Amino acid sequence: MGALWSSRPPSSILIVGSGVFGLATAYSLSKNDTFANTSITLVDRQPFPAPDSSSIDTSRIVRPDYASKPYANLAATSQNLWRTTFAPEHYHENGLVLSASASSTPYVKASLENVGSLETCRVEELNTEEDIRRVSRIEGKSGETGYVNWSSGWVDAEGAMRWLRLETEKLNRVTFVTASVSKLLIKHATNTVNGVSLQDGGKLEAELVILAAGAWTPSLLDLRGLCKSTGQILVYLPITDAEQTRLQSSPTILNMSTGMFMIPPSRNLLKIARHGHGYTNPTTIPHPESSDPDERITVSLPYTAINDPTQAVPEEGLQTCRSFLSDIHPSLSVPSRPFTKSRICWYTDTPTGDFLISYHPTYKGLFVATGGSGHAFKFLPVIGDKVLECVMGRTPEEFKGKWEWPKERVLEERWEGDGSRGGPVGMVLAEEMARRRSRM
Ligand SMILES: Cc1cc2nc3c(=O)[nH]c(=O)nc-3n(C[C@H](O)[C@H](O)[C@H](O)COP(=O)(O)OP(=O)(O)OC[C@H]3O[C@@H](n4cnc5c(N)ncnc54)[C@H](O)[C@@H]3O)c2cc1C
Ligand SMILES: *[C@@H]1O[C@H](CO)[C@@H](O)[C@H](O)[C@H]1NC(C)=O
Ligand SMILES: *[C@@H]1O[C@H](CO)[C@@H](O)[C@H](O)[C@H]1NC(C)=O
Ligand SMILES: *[C@@H]1O[C@H](CO)[C@@H](O)[C@H](O)[C@H]1NC(C)=O
Ligand SMILES: *[C@@H]1O[C@H](CO)[C@@H](O)[C@H](O)[C@H]1NC(C)=O
Repeated sequence: MGALWSSRPPSSILIVGSGVFGLATAYSLSKNDTFANTSITLVDRQPFPAPDSSSIDTSRIVRPDYASKPYANLAATSQNLWRTTFAPEHYHENGLVLSASASSTPYVKASLENVGSLETCRVEELNTEEDIRRVSRIEGKSGETGYVNWSSGWVDAEGAMRWLRLETEKLNRVTFVTASVSKLLIKHATNTVNGVSLQDGGKLEAELVILAAGAWTPSLLDLRGLCKSTGQILVYLPITDAEQTRLQSSPTILNMSTGMFMIPPSRNLLKIARHGHGYTNPTTIPHPESSDPDERITVSLPYTAINDPTQAVPEEGLQTCRSFLSDIHPSLSVPSRPFTKSRICWYTDTPTGDFLISYHPTYKGLFVATGGSGHAFKFLPVIGDKVLECVMGRTPEEFKGKWEWPKERVLEERWEGDGSRGGPVGMVLAEEMARRRSRM
């Protein structure tokens, strides 16, 4: 194990990445007496809020109904904070309809059993098409089986992140730096990391580096077989005031068969997205841990509107979003009303969908907090404290073997996932983009 917690807190901590994992960690460190004498620096490649980061968007679902008990319990704790003290003005409790075609529902069933065992029971099983249509207030076609949990909600993600940034600034403990990290400073002779070098030629040194660069983390550390970045699609449709009023209190709809979901609209913008297997973007880069520039590895890395300001979702994705909208709200899905904005947002997937919150097994002074796997946002109110527990060598009992550094790397073909994804498997971004060009 790289660097276990000793009796003394580090004199300096550098956090790379100001998303859910990085910013929440900075906030928790700032509040915690143990770190009163530790200097804290948070570096991000973009000024806050980074527009292409996974944590910045109009909305994120907050649901405690996980198939896995430790996550269900942590989500319930987190949700109580969303309701009360943690950016409550950005939290909305509209309910969530999980639906699926009758045949493909082990995840739905396992989730239902789990939520059923928790105390609040504002859950209804939905066993017919008509049930699903009534509850989700859609005009069109629906699945045949599922359930609604009226206690689930959604949060304005950018609003909540801005709130947390301000709360952190008020504590006046963190030095915020805008710079792009190019490499970890690794001393191979002693297997120690003591900072990072920056693209502009500078460097930032620290006794402990916490790597929380989201889907970009695999560009700074060899995470093959541990983390994989996958691109997920989002599209936005402007709606009228009357439509906003009609739809804003409806529940979120998530179709477990296809991974397609629609969160209630906010500020006259309807969002449709896919919680899917996503696109990979295989990229060959110098080995991030090697001092030999000729040693190269190929990993999936994000490609976003910062790389290409004209980026749009591939045709395959646009059509899938369009047909989902036609199914559920045919009156909104007319040719005269195109999606006006689309985006590819990057998950940091792990073989099992568990987060990776751990010291590095080889390098002293390096800790990793990533692997959001498309479900970390709801934990924003609690994840910083959990990261600190792990930093202090006290990984919560129920997350041992989940968040800790895996004993082995798993070939990507063998990843099991968390069972929650829908839609096509194995798509490569460049290939899907090329398809669109050839059609035009
Ligand atoms: C489309 C989509 C929908 C989602 N829906 C939900 C949901 O409904 N509910 C839910 O709970 N979760 C959801 N998630 C998951 C959740 O949003 C993510 O798990 C979470 O935001 C990940 O946070 P992060 O800190 O790991 O990454 P990020 O937010 O991406 O933060 C990483 C930061 O690192 C910075 N960085 C990267 N490289 C460097 C570098 N070299 N130098 C300096 N800085 C760097 C980036 O600029 C970025 O700001 C969704 C995610 C996506 C993409
Ligand atoms: C911080 O430094 C002060 C002054 O040296 C010392 O009294 C205190 O014990 C230190 N706190 C921690 C948590 O190390
Ligand atoms: C529904 O959501 C609430 C969260 O607010 C949760 O406490 C509950 O366990 C979930 N399930 C049931 C059966 O109520
Ligand atoms: C979910 O997808 C399945 C499979 O495509 C479909 O049969 C069903 O109608 C969909 N349900 C909703 C609510 O979109
Ligand atoms: C500091 O963090 C640890 C780990 O999360 C926690 O157990 C402890 O209560 C925190 N202390 C304060 C003062 O917040």
